[in-house]
Amino acid sequence: MSLGQYPTASTMNGFRGKLHLPIIMVCSIAFISLLYTERISIILSSNPFFKHKSCARRTPSVRKIKDRNVTEEKIDGSLVDDRFVFDPEECNVENGKWVFNRSVKPFYSDRSCPYLDRQVSCVKNGRPDSAYRHWEWQPEDCTLPRFNPELMLKKLRNKRLMFVGDSLQRGQWQSLVCMVESIIPQDQQSMRRGRALSVFTAKEYNATVEFYWDPFLVESNSDLHIVGNPKERILKVDSVDKHAKHWTGVDILVFNTYVWWMSGYTIKSYWGSFPNGEEGYEELEAPVAYRIALKTWANWVDSNVDPNKTRVFFTTMSPTHIRSADWNNPQGMKCFNETKPYMKRGFWGTGADKKIMRVVVEVMKKMKVPVSVLNITQMSDYRVDAHTKVYTETGGQLLTDEQKADVLHNSDCIHWCLPGVPDTWNQIFLANL
Ligand SMILES: *[C@@H]1O[C@H](CO)[C@@H](O)[C@H](O)[C@H]1NC(C)=O
Ligand SMILES: *[C@@H]1O[C@H](CO)[C@@H](O)[C@H](O)[C@H]1NC(C)=O
Ligand SMILES: *[C@@H]1O[C@H](CO)[C@@H](O)[C@H](O)[C@H]1NC(C)=O
Ligand SMILES: *[C@@H]1O[C@H](CO)[C@@H](O)[C@H](O)[C@H]1NC(C)=O
Ligand SMILES: *[C@@H]1O[C@H](CO)[C@@H](O)[C@H](O)[C@H]1NC(C)=O
Ligand SMILES: *[C@@H]1O[C@H](CO)[C@@H](O)[C@H](O)[C@H]1NC(C)=O
Repeated sequence: MSLGQYPTASTMNGFRGKLHLPIIMVCSIAFISLLYTERISIILSSNPFFKHKSCARRTPSVRKIKDRNVTEEKIDGSLVDDRFVFDPEECNVENGKWVFNRSVKPFYSDRSCPYLDRQVSCVKNGRPDSAYRHWEWQPEDCTLPRFNPELMLKKLRNKRLMFVGDSLQRGQWQSLVCMVESIIPQDQQSMRRGRALSVFTAKEYNATVEFYWDPFLVESNSDLHIVGNPKERILKVDSVDKHAKHWTGVDILVFNTYVWWMSGYTIKSYWGSFPNGEEGYEELEAPVAYRIALKTWANWVDSNVDPNKTRVFFTTMSPTHIRSADWNNPQGMKCFNETKPYMKRGFWGTGADKKIMRVVVEVMKKMKVPVSVLNITQMSDYRVDAHTKVYTETGGQLLTDEQKADVLHNSDCIHWCLPGVPDTWNQIFLANL
């Protein structure tokens, strides 16, 4: 078995899977929209992912042809153990469990990595418990290789990798940057942060790891200048070019979009046949608007991406944990009280909308360009313990002690502490790259 057997096609297999979970409840929407206006709408941020596959269907992938010789990929002895155990064709990484292992150490801390936003720097911000940093994801049928920063950088040599999406995507980008940063000498790395585009450069590898802020993927009146009130946001569900022009020439694209669609039941949307600006919008139910938008995105990918040159990934919904009754803790304060993952097998809470997942499945299934899905939703849903809670900032300021005391209102149960769960998303990302 070789690294060469990490084909992207495997990640598409899961599209056949039926969604058998019950229709999710929407009562968390009110909380979420509150959180949005308070936090997400103020702070640009983002970062999620995963890949998903079941083993039912094998689609031959163009990428297989380009797979490299294992020996070439081997950088040091550390790789040897890993590569015999993981083959995405054989292993469904989304089925598994979190296992506590005290000797698992994150690759970085919020003090060692200079690029982490304060929003996710939970330890610096006073989070007292540390167990959440020592859980390992163990797929049922195989062992996921540990993240290997040298291997990641080798794969990125002479390439541009760009994460595109919301604040959860931004967290995943920062996680990846921090995991590789530690092995790059100071004078061989640089970071340029911009409002829309941020670029980390690993000079000796001639590689960049970039983040492009684009919370809906399609255009909206709330992209760079965030409109705090969700009811005043209007989306152009058929327009993506303004953003997409920043994606051309990138070698590896990783997209996400979810949580911004969940700020209410409907989304004010307009498109080509209603060119009269705000007058012409229609209020579409969120999954309907999401479907049109995702198709707009898919159409761009199919028309503009050469799959022989560019890899495309899509990270599924990063679940939120607002409603503690979901995980059988009705007295809990959102996710605030949680210090351990919720272990119930197959747990699927109200913070991951199944209708949206179904749209993702259906749209991707019809795409010409193969998209590798990083199906992180199920695994992340267990991690009720891993959010930033009150150890974060709001409106650019750390929470005051007074605000911290009001855990019910001020716990952020959307974003993840770093180091944390997004590191595992990147572990899976690398295994599929
Ligand atoms: C793999 O690479 C090694 C050394 O670069 C070479 O000797 C070997 O023939 C290659 N194997 C294949 C299958 O290409
Ligand atoms: C815990 O992690 C260490 C370091 O990665 C590893 O050597 C050990 O096998 C792990 N233990 C278990 C029970 O998985
Ligand atoms: C550096 O990477 C870019 C793509 O990101 C590529 O176009 C260029 O040829 C590379 N430069 C060298 C010297 O390989
Ligand atoms: C990709 O490469 C394959 C094999 O080299 C070729 O048959 C195919 O036409 C290429 N596809 C595109 C879109 O260029
Ligand atoms: C959750 O935490 C709050 C704040 O510390 C505490 O008042 C409450 O009793 C806790 N609830 C449970 C169910 O542990
Ligand atoms: C992701 O995995 C879930 C099960 O964990 C499945 O229901 C869903 O269809 C998958 N999504 C995609 C896009 O493959």
